[in-house]
Amino acid sequence: MYKSAAAMSPLGALLPLVLVAAWCSVGEADVGDFAPCLQVFYKSWPPKGLTGSPVCQRYHNEYRFATLYSRPRRSPWFSAYLYSAPAGKRPTPSWMFEPQLANPGAEGNMIPFPSGPLDQNVVESQAVEPDYINSTYTRGHLNPSLHHQMHQDRAATFTLTNVVPQKAGSNDGPWEDLENNVNKSLATFCLGEAHVVTGVIPYRSDGHWLGDRRVAVPEYMWSAYCCPDYNHSLPQELREAFPTHAAIGRNDRNSTEEIVPVSREAKKQFRGYDVRRMSLKTLEEHLKERLGADISVFHEQCSGSD
Ligand SMILES: *[C@@H]1O[C@H](CO)[C@@H](O)[C@H](O)[C@H]1NC(C)=O
Ligand SMILES: *[C@@H]1O[C@H](CO)[C@@H](O)[C@H](O)[C@H]1NC(C)=O
Ligand SMILES: *[C@@H]1O[C@H](CO)[C@@H](O)[C@H](O)[C@H]1NC(C)=O
Ligand SMILES: *[C@@H]1O[C@H](CO)[C@@H](O)[C@H](O)[C@H]1NC(C)=O
Repeated sequence: MYKSAAAMSPLGALLPLVLVAAWCSVGEADVGDFAPCLQVFYKSWPPKGLTGSPVCQRYHNEYRFATLYSRPRRSPWFSAYLYSAPAGKRPTPSWMFEPQLANPGAEGNMIPFPSGPLDQNVVESQAVEPDYINSTYTRGHLNPSLHHQMHQDRAATFTLTNVVPQKAGSNDGPWEDLENNVNKSLATFCLGEAHVVTGVIPYRSDGHWLGDRRVAVPEYMWSAYCCPDYNHSLPQELREAFPTHAAIGRNDRNSTEEIVPVSREAKKQFRGYDVRRMSLKTLEEHLKERLGADISVFHEQCSGSD
């Protein structure tokens, strides 16, 4: 995913590789890799099959979670984090950006957007607040502040590299219900670590952006967790929910219904933003079909084997 192929190639192939590398540095270049924040992934194994820029999200000098960022889309493919039972109030957001995406030599902590004009390198490299202001989309967290105990871990989720354009009908409706339900299931029945990965499925067609091809809007959001060490006295309705479970949510009420059907009963403002719970296997089948690659979210499908 973020390994260089150059080391293995015969000499004759070197020149084209250098050219590709040069092209990549303005496209999906890596800003380091996931090495410093591998512990957020189950068995230190990042999801396989997606390509982008790995970002270890650092706040106040500590790595908090991980994001695979897409520079061409100026939005994340996924964020991955360790769940911890929340305590206290949601922080008042102070939105931040990732200086390393703008400038590879930059210091690694995320920093708040300045009140004055923005550095053009920042504007080019990632989503910025004006992209969302006056749009018909809210800022949808992939890693939600709700799934963290410590205040600083919560505050660290307010970076736009962890955010995608999400319709309010999803963000304040069925997707929020999903986040709450996952919190309850994990807080009550997960005994050890719970690893969560939340990401997006793009539209098949190209016309969905904030602004002038600034920030890509996803058609669906997905989420999956892995909790290998859980309380086996599960109530009937949670039998399928451990050790791993997944979901896909609609971000467009006009989408067709083969991935997520629409319930006619939902309240009007949430209608068409349904979330469908499903097995990890079913999620990976949909990801494969829509992304055209074998996607593996957790090591060995979170089976607990080595
Ligand atoms: C948002 O819309 C208001 C009112 O039309 C306008 O004054 C403001 O400049 C817009 N802000 C951005 C960031 O586009
Ligand atoms: C998360 O789940 C726990 C356990 O059910 C509950 O006590 C807590 O209120 C939930 N937190 C939020 C923010 O919903
Ligand atoms: C497991 O769940 C049962 C039923 O909810 C509860 O009585 C028991 O205390 C739980 N065990 C642990 C280790 O949390
Ligand atoms: C959904 O369809 C309606 C009616 O055709 C249109 O106005 C609206 O912009 C569409 N929504 C999206 C997100 O494309």
